[in-house]
Amino acid sequence: MIFVTGGAGFIGSNFVLDWLAQSQEPVLNYDKLTYAGNLKNLAALDGDARHLFVRGDICDKDKVLALLRQHRPRAIVHFAAESHVDRSILGPGAFIETNVNGTFSLLEAARAYWGELDAEAKAAFRFLHVSTDEVYGTLGPEDPPFSETTAYAPNSPYSASKAASDHLVRAYHHTYGLPVLTTNCSNNYGPYHFPEKLIPLIISNALAGKPLPIYGDGQQVRDWLYVSDHCAAIRRVLDAGRPGETYNVGGWNEMANLDVVHILCDMLDRARPKAAGSYRDQITFVQDRPGHDRRYAIDARKLERELGWKPAETFESGIAKTVDWYLTHQAWVDDVRSGAYLTWMEQNYAHREGNA
Ligand code: NAD
Ligand code: TYD
Repeated sequence: MIFVTGGAGFIGSNFVLDWLAQSQEPVLNYDKLTYAGNLKNLAALDGDARHLFVRGDICDKDKVLALLRQHRPRAIVHFAAESHVDRSILGPGAFIETNVNGTFSLLEAARAYWGELDAEAKAAFRFLHVSTDEVYGTLGPEDPPFSETTAYAPNSPYSASKAASDHLVRAYHHTYGLPVLTTNCSNNYGPYHFPEKLIPLIISNALAGKPLPIYGDGQQVRDWLYVSDHCAAIRRVLDAGRPGETYNVGGWNEMANLDVVHILCDMLDRARPKAAGSYRDQITFVQDRPGHDRRYAIDARKLERELGWKPAETFESGIAKTVDWYLTHQAWVDDVRSGAYLTWMEQNYAHREGNA
């Protein structure tokens, strides 16, 4: 079996669903179920013996180690993290706790378990760390995209905590020989994306008749990748990646935020026309994010050259699937937008009002 952390979050749940759609190999899904973890994402696996869910914190080394010894996975795929930049600005502590201390605890548990394996299992074992392109910092308009050799220059508490975790993972390979793999991926989008992030926030706010908040001038550029392409890249790296290596994952799809929002509004205008006007009328420019990175872009040629991975979706096909999914899963959106999430929305957007 494989041991997945954070498998109830956005990418983790897509990964678990895709994994079990293609393989009989069971998954132990270990997740703390923070505000971002949602077992409803995995409802399709109810009663499926190949999916074993355990609620727990990656900071709990003893619990993780006991589970590893009991279930003897051949790999750990590590998604669990605090993942939202805006939350890291308002409250960085949780990011240090989970992303840095939690990854450290997980590495310690993995090292102890791995050290007990026989030579064959030891050689086959993998620790795959899922990271982000944000560790590389920000690009100017003419800079080449991030490659695996670009120097780390994280600018937010989120990206700094992920950078720290990447360094720990690297060190466990270099020092202890733990067979680690790291992927650094660009912005994902798709089903089960929590509506605090740009694309699902815009879709759900548009349909609810609420403002569509654009930070600053909306000309920040992100490189968008459909989530199932990221999951496929992770499976490919797990299968054939070289231990100790890092692989950048991206969609070759740079877009300015305002252009993404315009596309979403136009799609919704066609799919769910308003009584009068366009969803574009709801666009509201708000105060920028402090330290906002201007541009991310990923050079994913190493992954293509060495492991033959390329994205299957274009932005057009991926965003069409995404909008369709949100339109047909309004109950999922309503569910996650209730409770704690609303308190967070108030905190994040209250201090931005009137600051266009
Ligand atoms: P997410 O916030 O949707 O999900 C994170 C999951 O981790 C949740 O299920 C949460 O309950 C769980 N979790 C949080 N703290 C935990 C802890 N201490 N112990 C156990 N579980 C815990 O995040 P996501 O967008 O799915 O991102 C998953 C991973 O991919 C993260 O490591 C993130 O840095 C990385 N990543 C994300 C993107 C993106 O665009 N979303 C891009 C590149 C890389
Ligand atoms: P986000 O989805 O938070 O991802 P990240 O910050 O990790 O790239 O944001 C994507 C981009 O959209 C980013 O440049 C910030 C911007 N943004 C807005 O303009 N308005 C919003 O309400 C949010 C959440 C993000």
